[in-house]
Amino acid sequence: MKSKMNPAGSMTVTIDGVSHKFPLYEGAEGPKVADIRAFYQKTGAFTFDPGFTSTASCESQITFIDGDEGVLLYRGYPIDELAEDSNFLEVAYLLLHGELPSREQNVAFDAAITRHTMVHEQLKNFYNGFRRDAHPMAIMVGVVGALSAFYHDSTDINDPKQRKIASHRMIAKMPTIAAMAYKYSTGQPFVFPRNDKSYTENFMRMCFAVPAEEYEVNPVLCAALDKIFILHMDHEQNASTSTVRLAGSSGANPFACIAAGIASLWGPAHGGANEAALTMLEEIGSVDRIPEYVAKAKDRNDPFRLMGFGHRVYKNYDPRAKVMRNACYEVLDALNIRDEPLLQVALELERIALEDEYFVQKKLYPNIDFYSGITLRALGFPTDMFTVLFALARTVGWIAQWSEMIVDPSQKIGRPRQVYTGSNSRNYVPLSTR
Ligand code: CMC
Repeated sequence: MKSKMNPAGSMTVTIDGVSHKFPLYEGAEGPKVADIRAFYQKTGAFTFDPGFTSTASCESQITFIDGDEGVLLYRGYPIDELAEDSNFLEVAYLLLHGELPSREQNVAFDAAITRHTMVHEQLKNFYNGFRRDAHPMAIMVGVVGALSAFYHDSTDINDPKQRKIASHRMIAKMPTIAAMAYKYSTGQPFVFPRNDKSYTENFMRMCFAVPAEEYEVNPVLCAALDKIFILHMDHEQNASTSTVRLAGSSGANPFACIAAGIASLWGPAHGGANEAALTMLEEIGSVDRIPEYVAKAKDRNDPFRLMGFGHRVYKNYDPRAKVMRNACYEVLDALNIRDEPLLQVALELERIALEDEYFVQKKLYPNIDFYSGITLRALGFPTDMFTVLFALARTVGWIAQWSEMIVDPSQKIGRPRQVYTGSNSRNYVPLSTR
């Protein structure tokens, strides 16, 4: 990757009366960055930024977020335009290659992904090792990690051809692996992928078809799920993507790196929030109980948070949440669900929270996960599959980011430092004298 950062002045830092100058750069959009790579060497001090709230960990040309304005762009294209007008594989191509595909490229990419959707028969045995009630994210971490033991011909990260094959394999196989995790939990037989189906149609079929009868995918539901996948595909340097990059920075193979990303995504503050948000809406249950939960969320002594609210970067309405709310309406409409009680709770909760001083002041708005649970449940997925669907879609972003990192000449092994506040040096005291 060729750097596109431009010089934008300098920053002077004075420590103990001595001034040090550091270059400032700017990208295509967003704030300037102070280049502090030589900070320790020049000043003898570290910078301290747990949670990376002021740190750009890398240069990237994939996704841009303006959290104050509520803007999300994939390779420059607004997320709502892509979600409404494009489709999963076209956006995947865009994220991986930087440009929308031509018609020929589209056909070739579609064929490449479709031809990799089957998994090695031996991989099935991994599923039998799990309990039937295992969380499907636990299965995903294990099975995706195991891919590196199956596809040895695509683990050499220094070979661009192997990197490409590994990328195609993971994007193609993720729906098969995810659907198998679901089928395993229900006790139904695995359903093989079909090459005449679109990416998302294939996934729905592998989840919901049974060998005993024909299964027709509802096109409205399929289009809504495709849209939901596009919304989840990438989100710049979030926790799981940073995990993938950090794992990859040591030279680990891509299958292992994506498994690390899945593990990071699982947490309730990240991808697990969609599951947590639906559980919360179910717990609230009715509109009259909302004030009680809003009060709990505002109580500093209560760890409860409104799930699906707030974001590290967005200090405005999450642009993905708007598309997700529309998708929710489309799905409920297509299924003739006229009075979904949880939607009433969600709409009223959003209305109250957006007017409440606590949420207004802290700039806490609904995020993508607020409406996704209701939508995914209506589509027929059980709660514990929600984060799996997120992982399936985010795999594209993880791979695009990992691929970008591998060819970035400024890339080094990620190795943060720390502020040590433990004991000073002291001598061992033998047990007999303690
Ligand atoms: N409900 C109530 N209060 C909240 C919430 C919430 N959902 N989110 C943040 N706050 C408060 C928080 O208590 C803190 O208050 P104070 O300044 O008085 O200590 C303030 O707002 C700032 O919160 P923070 O935890 O310092 O902010 P953060 O940027 O570290 O956390 C977050 C961001 C997403 C983890 C957090 O907002 C949260 O836990 N939200 C609920 C979980 C959720 O919906 N996560 C999905 C994120 S979107 C999908 C994804 O990217 O994976």
